[in-house]
Amino acid sequence: MKILVINGPNLNMLGKRDNDQYGVETLDQISHRISMKAAELDVEVEFFQSNHEGSIIDFLQDSYLDASGILINPGALTHYGISLRDCLADVKIPFIEIHLSDIHEREEFRRHSMISDISLEQIKGHRGDGYVMGLERLVIHLRKLG
Ligand code: DQA
Repeated sequence: MKILVINGPNLNMLGKRDNDQYGVETLDQISHRISMKAAELDVEVEFFQSNHEGSIIDFLQDSYLDASGILINPGALTHYGISLRDCLADVKIPFIEIHLSDIHEREEFRRHSMISDISLEQIKGHRGDGYVMGLERLVIHLRKLG
């Protein structure tokens, strides 16, 4: 079983961003923890990060055929990325939306997500742990589907 782990704009800067909102871990450190959990769960993970909406869409269109699930933190694209939303709807692969910060406790403009109504779940406010939790929950969901 292969899970795509996708991070959007500015998430390559984790560690240097606002530590109060996003924690102190770098994306590499979080990805390492995801890989460890993936090994424990016996699933394959493929990582992708881009600062460009179109590049994320290209990656999804190129990769979805052999993927079973997606963990995605779209960064700011969460709030306005209609093309990304369309792509996630088109590929029809179960996905969980991850946010390091609690987007409901921040500025008004962060409260709306373009993808939460089509995601299995939105995990927010758990910093890097959210990705590990998301992977566990996604795999449980996919295994139930059979
Ligand atoms: C974020 C929240 C977004 O509002 C923000 O633009 C990000 C990161 C999060 O992980 O908390 O870049 O998705």
